[in-house]
Formats: sequence, C-alpha cells, structure tokens
Amino acid sequence: MCGITGYVGKDEAAPILIKGLARLEYRGYDSAGIAVLEGHRIRALKMPGKIKELYKGLKKTRLNGTTGIAHTRWATHGIPNYINAHPHYDCRKAIALVHNGIIENCEGLKAQLKKEGHKFLSETDTEVLPHLIEKYYKGVLEDAVRRALKDTKGSYAIAVIHKDEPGKLVGARCGSPLVVGIGTGENFLASDCPAIMDRTRKVIFVDDQEVITLTGDTVVITGLNGRKINKKSTTIDWDISQAEKGGYAHFMLKEIYDQPRVVHEILSSRADVAKGRIDLEGIKITTAGLREVDNIVISACGTAYHAGLVGEYLIEKFARIPVEVDVSSELRYRNPVYGKRSLFIAVSQSGETADTLAALREAKKNGVKTVSICNVVGSTIARESDGVIYTHAGPEIGVASTKAYTAQITIFILLALYLGGIKGSVTRKQLKEALTGFEMIPEYMDEILDEAETIKACAKKYYRLPCFMYIGRGVNYPNAFEGALKLKEISYIHAEGYGAGEMKHGPIALIDRNMAVVAIVPQSFTYEKMISNMQEIRARNGAIIAIATEGDLSIKKHARSVLYIPKTEEIFSPLLTIVPLQLLAYYIAVLKGRDVDQPRNLAKSVTVE
Ligand code: AGP
Repeated sequence: MCGITGYVGKDEAAPILIKGLARLEYRGYDSAGIAVLEGHRIRALKMPGKIKELYKGLKKTRLNGTTGIAHTRWATHGIPNYINAHPHYDCRKAIALVHNGIIENCEGLKAQLKKEGHKFLSETDTEVLPHLIEKYYKGVLEDAVRRALKDTKGSYAIAVIHKDEPGKLVGARCGSPLVVGIGTGENFLASDCPAIMDRTRKVIFVDDQEVITLTGDTVVITGLNGRKINKKSTTIDWDISQAEKGGYAHFMLKEIYDQPRVVHEILSSRADVAKGRIDLEGIKITTAGLREVDNIVISACGTAYHAGLVGEYLIEKFARIPVEVDVSSELRYRNPVYGKRSLFIAVSQSGETADTLAALREAKKNGVKTVSICNVVGSTIARESDGVIYTHAGPEIGVASTKAYTAQITIFILLALYLGGIKGSVTRKQLKEALTGFEMIPEYMDEILDEAETIKACAKKYYRLPCFMYIGRGVNYPNAFEGALKLKEISYIHAEGYGAGEMKHGPIALIDRNMAVVAIVPQSFTYEKMISNMQEIRARNGAIIAIATEGDLSIKKHARSVLYIPKTEEIFSPLLTIVPLQLLAYYIAVLKGRDVDQPRNLAKSVTVE
C-alpha cells in the first residue's frame, strides 16, 4: 500500500532514493518523505502530495549523505498531511524509520510508551516503531529492531537508520513486501524491484519475520531471534523499460495493448497444440493429486475475483469439479468447510493482497492443498502457496488491472482444460481443437485494438452520463462486473455489473435516458435471452452499447452503439469482450480528465485489510 526505499553505499543517497521512489508511486501517493544520515545527524524532508512535491522540496533543501531511507504513502491511519508523512522518529530524532503495513496493536503500544515518557507527534500507527526501537536501543540498531518487532502485531516492511551508526541500514518484513538489492559497494531495500533496477538486478526476496542489516559491502539476514539465515539471490529478468510507459500516454493504455503479447507468451510457453499438451509448470500437485480433487475454492479480490468467476464457469464446464468463488475479505472470516480433497486457488496479480494472503493461510491451517495464480515473482502469496502458476504478464503499473486479468483468464482456461484431461471429461482431440482455437486469440485481440478510434468515438457519446449498467450472461457474466469496475475506478462514474437475467428482479427500475447500458452479447447459447433483455431496456429509453460478434448486423436494431469483436468459441469470448470495455473505460476517464494510472483513493496493491 506504501512504497519504501533504502540505500547504503558510496554515492549520495538522496537522488538514488527519490528515483527509486518514483518507480513505486503506483503503490501509494498521498505524501512522501526522505531521511539521510549526514555524519551523525539525520536530515529529513517530508511533503504532502505526490513525489514530484518532494523533488521540488529537495531542490531547495539539499540532503547530503550516503545512507538514507524514503517513503511514498497511501494513508491508513492519519490523514495525508506533512506530520503523518514518513519518515517517523524517536524522541531524540536519533532514529528515522519508514514503514509499509499496519501495526494493529499500535494503540496499546502507544499508551504504554507514553506512560514511559515518549512523546508522539503524528496520528500514524507507524510512529510507535521508532519509539519502541529507542526503548530497546543499546548501541546496536538491528538488536533493538528485532526486540521492538517482538512487541508488535500486524504487517510491516520497514527501513531504519540511526544517527550513531552511519553506514548502516536495517530492514525487516512481516506481511508487506520487501526486497534487498545487492550492488557493488552499495546495497538497497525496496518494496518492489523497479525501485532498484537502475542500480542492480541481483535481489533477495525477504520473508516474514526476517531482519536485514546492510552496509555498503555486507548483507546479513537473521530471524527475529537473531539467528543468521542464508538466502539465495535472484536475478531480475525483465527490462526496466517494460516498467516504463513505452510511448503510451498512460501505463494502463500500454498494458491494454500488451495483452495480445501476454496471452501469446502464456500459450507458447504452456500449450503444445500439436501434441495437445498443457504445461502448468509450478502447480506442484501431481496428476494423481489433481485427479482426487473433488471441489475447488477460489479466493481473490477485485479484478482477480472476476477472473475467478470466469474460472469457475470453465472448470465446471470442462472438468465437472464443483467450484465456489469468494472475495477473500469474506472467505477469510466465513470459516468455510474444506474437505480432504479440496483445492484452494488464490488469484492475485501483486501476490501481496492482505485479504487473499489471509484466506490462503486459513486454507493452509485447514490442511488444504493450495495453488496461487500470481504475476509478481517471489511475492508472498506465491511463496506461501504449495504451488504457484505465474502469469508472467510483466509488471502491471496502472492501478486498474488489465493485462493481469486476461492473463489470469488465460491460465484458468488452460487449467480447466488440463483438469478436464486428467478427469477424462476432455479428450485429447477436444484439447487439440480447443488449443488451436486459443492460438487465434492474440490476433483477435489485436484486431479489436485496431478499432480503438471507434471505441474512443463511442466514449465521446456517453462520457457525460452519470451512471452505467453492464449486463452479461454465462462466461461473460463476470465481465459485466469487470467492465463496471474498470469504469468506476478510473472515471469515478457510478457503474454496476449485473447478470442480464436479473434485470427484471429490480435493477430495470433504474433504466431511463440517463443510464447507459453496456450489453455483452457475443454469439452464444444465451444470445436470444440477451436480445430479450435488451428489448426490455430499450422499451424504457435505456441507451444501449452492445459488445457483439462481427457480422451480427441484426444487433443494430437493439442497440444505439455497437462495438464488435471477432467471432470465436464461447469459452474464449471473455478474453475478447473485455478489451472494448477496458478501452471504453480508459477513454471515458481521459475525457473526464482523470488521473488514469493513479486514480484517487486507490493503490495498486492493497496490502492492508
Ligand atoms: C482492479 O483494477 C483493482 N486495482 C483491484 O480490484 C485489484 O484487482 C485487487 O485489489 C486485487 O489485487 P491483486 O490481484 O494484486 O490481489
């Protein structure tokens, strides 16, 4: 939810920290701050607003020193303002600390520390940490950090410096992501890899309850008990330019256009059409183990949840295994009934969503086999699942998830076919036919993207309307929710997704000329039903935008605007119908002057409850 960076080495820390922070802005951007060790003095600057405000402040206030920390915030406790911005200090300003996460027992800790004479300045939960460290400090920063963290409950990724220990940077994590960057004569801490990739590609992913002590030349990792832990480093294999906009106006647009490549790469790496074989490398459950599975529980949030709904439809269709899908924030408290032969699937682009991580841990406590479908390699959900199927969609920076969604659906289609093959409900011949059709999808996505100007023109016709309704059926029912979510989160226009068959049970009362209705109505076995629903809406002056199959000319009688997708088998159609919905939301948001990549109130990864 927030982004942190840390540097210790031979170069001036401030420019390195700020540049790294800018690459983490997608994690939160309501205030930012930096602290640098100048000899035995901590010099700091904090600003409300985006990182560019901090840039401006640093032009006036030079911070010199080769050890430092920085932070970009997404407020959880305390409004976004100067005093609540990180870094936070102890009483003597001997310690500076930045934090991503939530200290759940902060009130109790603060009360106790106040009793012991500590003075607090902010409303944040974070501020208890430097005071706790001060309480236990006996000359060795990492010892005091380990001791202090034993008193805390909740989630954290922290970076800490002490004025009496120049050249030392300490970090720790529990529940929030943290990576160590290993350089030559310099080392780094960061919430995510893009922050350090300019300086090094050699990283160590930190696990929960681990404490890191860095100098320019040394990296020491221990548990909270102080016992050393040896961890392997990983070399990041994707290019920083992938994490840049690449000439597009927004990350979101770049990622929408990246979808054909992503789907193609997943298929070329995981499907052998000629042999009718699928490789779900990483799933780590044997064929025999999968054959025993008699029910599947899918847990996710937001867009990932919608991908799970598509997965439910496909797995039940091909593998005839009962599936239930739940939003993680409900599942984790619902005390669901798991059987001995249940399979739990967590779906998460970031692999750090707190609710999904908690639901995963609950399932593991119940002895359930767990698999995650994740995009970020080495993320917590990925590492804590028994098996992980990576989508390898590359970094998704826009807060509104697009290519991760179509990548998740692609994996679900392969998983459904794979399970069907194991269960015997899909023959080798059927598998080959399905994969042959699947291979056309990237090209069909490109054809839709080639029609972007038509979609832009459609956005111009409807962007002033105050509310939208999205309706769909069957395997395109989840896209009604996903299309609505895209519009809501980047344009701030109210939008709802509904099963088309539900309209008569209440929502049709909303229909009037101020309501745009997006009807997802490709060729399918429920096509006629969709047409009836559209007629009911038009009879009440609803303005319909139809997402229909190329060649369907009769649809024009039922809709004011039509956006076409190429003809394809119904099981692949969600991968196509979502593309015009993504672009429609994008162009409407641009027309409304919204901050498309960093919409208000949101962050890319919701690592708190
Ligand atoms: C989707 O556009 C949103 N940004 C949000 O709903 C997101 O899908 C959700 O927070 C889940 O994130 P995850 O996939 O990283 O777990």
